[in-house]
Amino acid sequence: MIRKMRAAILDLDGVIVDTAKYHYLAWKRLAKEFGFDFTESDNERLKGVSRLRSLEILLEIGGLDVDEITKQSMATRKNDWYVEYIQRLDASEILPGVVEYLKSIRRRNVKIALGSASKNAPLILERLHISCLFDSIIDGTKVRQAKPDPEVFLRASTELGIPPEDCVVFEDAEAGIEAAHRAGMGAVGIGRPCALQDADMVIEGLYQLVALLK
Ligand code: BG6
Ligand code: MG
Repeated sequence: MIRKMRAAILDLDGVIVDTAKYHYLAWKRLAKEFGFDFTESDNERLKGVSRLRSLEILLEIGGLDVDEITKQSMATRKNDWYVEYIQRLDASEILPGVVEYLKSIRRRNVKIALGSASKNAPLILERLHISCLFDSIIDGTKVRQAKPDPEVFLRASTELGIPPEDCVVFEDAEAGIEAAHRAGMGAVGIGRPCALQDADMVIEGLYQLVALLK
């Protein structure tokens, strides 16, 4: 249920920027090195999922069983490629309406936080030149539990000093919607309604809310 919004907590990948294509390229390259294919539909299963859990799903798809040390080196390899790809990111890749929406809620005294599973979040925000729009940045380096655990959003609520019931989360992944609800927050789904059935409302992108605020 969405009540008064005093804080907006945004996921990064799929809400602010479409980085899924770069994650996909890096996972596909890793799969190829290990001799199996990884498709775009396989990649859907990795959205919102932590790096290590993503690797476990990839290994399951490839039918591979590897030891912990190999897992760590595979995750590092994938991340090195991913970081190489996102070096080319710039503000033109920010999804439509994001900057306008954040600036307009900020003018209405709404606090803004990032709540992302990605350990690369600060680098991405910097490449997009939008770090300054956030009062707090909670990324994958600051939490122990991955979504659907509510830790990332609760931490954002604490840092902002706004109680969970006055926070609204913007998420493109089912695990993120569940995490928001477990934190006691409202959840706006970004994407297709059929994929985000538990969200309190679903929109295609933040550009739709910009029109409402004018
Ligand atoms: C999430 C993405 O935001 O972050 C996942 O949706 C990704 O696809 C996860 O695996 C972790 O990201 P990173 O950048 O720390 O590997
Ligand atoms: Mg996401």
